[in-house]
Amino acid sequence: MIDELRDLGYELNDYSLSDADFSDLDFEGYASEDSDIILDVPYIPSDEKIVQALLDFAEINNQDTLYDLGCGDGRILVAAALERNARGVGIDMDPRRIIEAMEYAQHSGVEQQVHFLNEDLLEADFSDATVVTLYLLDIVNIKLRPRLLDELRPGTRVVSHAFNMGDWKPDHQRQCGNVKLYKWLIPAKIAGTWQWQSESGDQYKITLKQKYQEVTGHAWLNEQVIAINSLLLRGDLLEVVLQVPTARPLRLLMRCQPKQWILEEGSLVISPAIKIAHT
Ligand SMILES: C[S@@+](CC[C@H](N)C(=O)[O-])C[C@H]1O[C@@H](n2cnc3c(N)ncnc32)[C@H](O)[C@@H]1O
Repeated sequence: MIDELRDLGYELNDYSLSDADFSDLDFEGYASEDSDIILDVPYIPSDEKIVQALLDFAEINNQDTLYDLGCGDGRILVAAALERNARGVGIDMDPRRIIEAMEYAQHSGVEQQVHFLNEDLLEADFSDATVVTLYLLDIVNIKLRPRLLDELRPGTRVVSHAFNMGDWKPDHQRQCGNVKLYKWLIPAKIAGTWQWQSESGDQYKITLKQKYQEVTGHAWLNEQVIAINSLLLRGDLLEVVLQVPTARPLRLLMRCQPKQWILEEGSLVISPAIKIAHT
């Protein structure tokens, strides 16, 4: 695709640094090329191979609204629109990048599908994203982290080119040449005490603590302590395996909503789980 645009005379800069992990460089107070705007991250575009790997890894499809925070010339969004029919929003603080991105989208015929905003990514509203892509620095990812966790819907995919998110471990990672890609699913907020009942009238209760997607807890069946064999939270899906006395382990897969969990799969029919205490 990029070659075709070059043939049309559309010049995409070929940055050989694009695969590099630039976290060791000192970009403190990096200035935009032709203005006095101070960027948090310099402009180094992802190369075509990485763009393709990001689209695959993020599993972008025609239902998605993709935000690229620090979008550069908009290449990730244009590729997602052309190849996956996804909608996109690009945010960049450098007005030169926004002009390039708008021209690129227009040349590619996807200007109705992708929009570009000249804003600070640390302030911009990205709450309607279903996928967010980042090619920033660890420190910027970490600054952004509380907003990603609080403002994106559970299950939203966040994919980062090369840079991690501090102590928030990725759910998945993939190697692309010498570059690592990381993927997180925004975890539902499930800390607290939850209760549900089986068809036969058994009362279950579970108390959970949560750090990001990592969950620990204690469980009771009819007020008797039972062991939790496993707890796995991925986005808004929670898999719980409980050790029920004199029976096989009970596996429940719940869709977690803010005030209730709905059973998606399980070896027992249960009522929706209701939150009865916050801690
Ligand atoms: C490493 S480039 C990534 C470009 C594009 N996402 C890609 O992967 O090809 C980082 C981009 O972030 C932009 N940027 C840096 N600080 C920003 C900020 N605070 N708000 C918005 N954009 C910013 C830069 O102008 C640059 O275009």
